[in-house]
Amino acid sequence: MNEPVNNQIRLAARPVGLPKSSDWSLTQEPVRKPGAGEVVVKTHYISVDPAMRGWMNDMDSYLPKLALGDVMRALTVGEVIESHNDDLAVGDYVAGVGGVQDYAVVQGQELMKIDLGLAPLQAYLNTLGIAGLTAYCGLVKLGEPKAGQTVLVSGAAGSVGAHVGQIAKIKGCRVIGIAGGKRKCDFIVDELGFDGAIDYKSGNLFESIPQLCPDGVDIFFDNVGGDILNAALVNINHSARVVLCGGIANYNATSPNPGPAAYGMLIIRSARMEGYIYLDYQDEWPAMIKEMAAWMADGKLECPDDIVQGGVSVFPDTLLRLFSGDNFGKLMIKVT
Ligand SMILES: NC(=O)c1ccc[n+]([C@@H]2O[C@H](COP(=O)([O-])OP(=O)(O)OC[C@H]3O[C@@H](n4cnc5c(N)ncnc54)[C@H](OP(=O)(O)O)[C@@H]3O)[C@@H](O)[C@H]2O)c1
Repeated sequence: MNEPVNNQIRLAARPVGLPKSSDWSLTQEPVRKPGAGEVVVKTHYISVDPAMRGWMNDMDSYLPKLALGDVMRALTVGEVIESHNDDLAVGDYVAGVGGVQDYAVVQGQELMKIDLGLAPLQAYLNTLGIAGLTAYCGLVKLGEPKAGQTVLVSGAAGSVGAHVGQIAKIKGCRVIGIAGGKRKCDFIVDELGFDGAIDYKSGNLFESIPQLCPDGVDIFFDNVGGDILNAALVNINHSARVVLCGGIANYNATSPNPGPAAYGMLIIRSARMEGYIYLDYQDEWPAMIKEMAAWMADGKLECPDDIVQGGVSVFPDTLLRLFSGDNFGKLMIKVT
């Protein structure tokens, strides 16, 4: 029988600005034999995330930096096809950090077993995975939403933002989203039930935010940073919570980001601005997944899967879609 070939995307160079094709190499090698406690996972879906841009830099973050030549780090879901681990059997479905490759050989204890009875496989990269968990952790743990409060969220039509708005509605808040373009703004209001939307690509945020948030902003959930963060800060209420989830406007910057000029609003409004990584709350994920699965089943929480076909070779171009705003929902690559 022919041994399976592992197609892999490796980091070939550190990008300056937007990644380009020469920053990647496509390699092939046999699948390594698993050692004690390890399993071989056949990748079904690869999550494509803005954080990947940071992992390519020559700097440790909440995870160690990648070395040149490493397989690109990525969250994946897939199927166990060989097991040397007592807790995982061939045929089990798992989520973990499999990388941009067809097969991953991983210690079983680093994987989360997936319950396909709760939701389909790709949901574990979307609502029951990084997107929903990031939204839940940031909004509920840091934002502390209360019924009647106003929540403003940037990147609102993206995978994290879409969940933030819907969870805030479940909590009884009034929700305004900031997104790029009419299609995304219509989507969050008409399909996801946001109370209003602001197209940051047309008009002036310093005018539109107070128009749509006449009672001020109690929680600003920020996925973008830059000018949007600054305009939101100007409108925060007393005791507001500014949740720093991401700053995609700066991920490809080639010069240092000066930070928001309006940071003094935190002082005069006795407000709090706090960052987090969803990995901080891993102990609480099982309970969050259960709660969000129930909301999904009730039709209260949804986010489109934006699935790109073509396997690992389409990864370099697919990653760029996050930075052009071309993705619609949770971006992932189908491998099998
Ligand atoms: N803290 C954590 O643990 C954690 C975990 C996961 C993700 N995140 C962060 O959450 C944010 C959203 O991630 P996601 O996976 O849900 O991505 P996403 O929102 O589905 O996709 C990225 C979106 O960002 C917007 N964007 C790109 N460049 C922009 C710019 N220069 N200015 C304004 N908007 C821009 C685009 O939407 P428009 O078309 O609307 O411009 C694009 O569709 C990212 O900042 C990510 O790093 C944080």
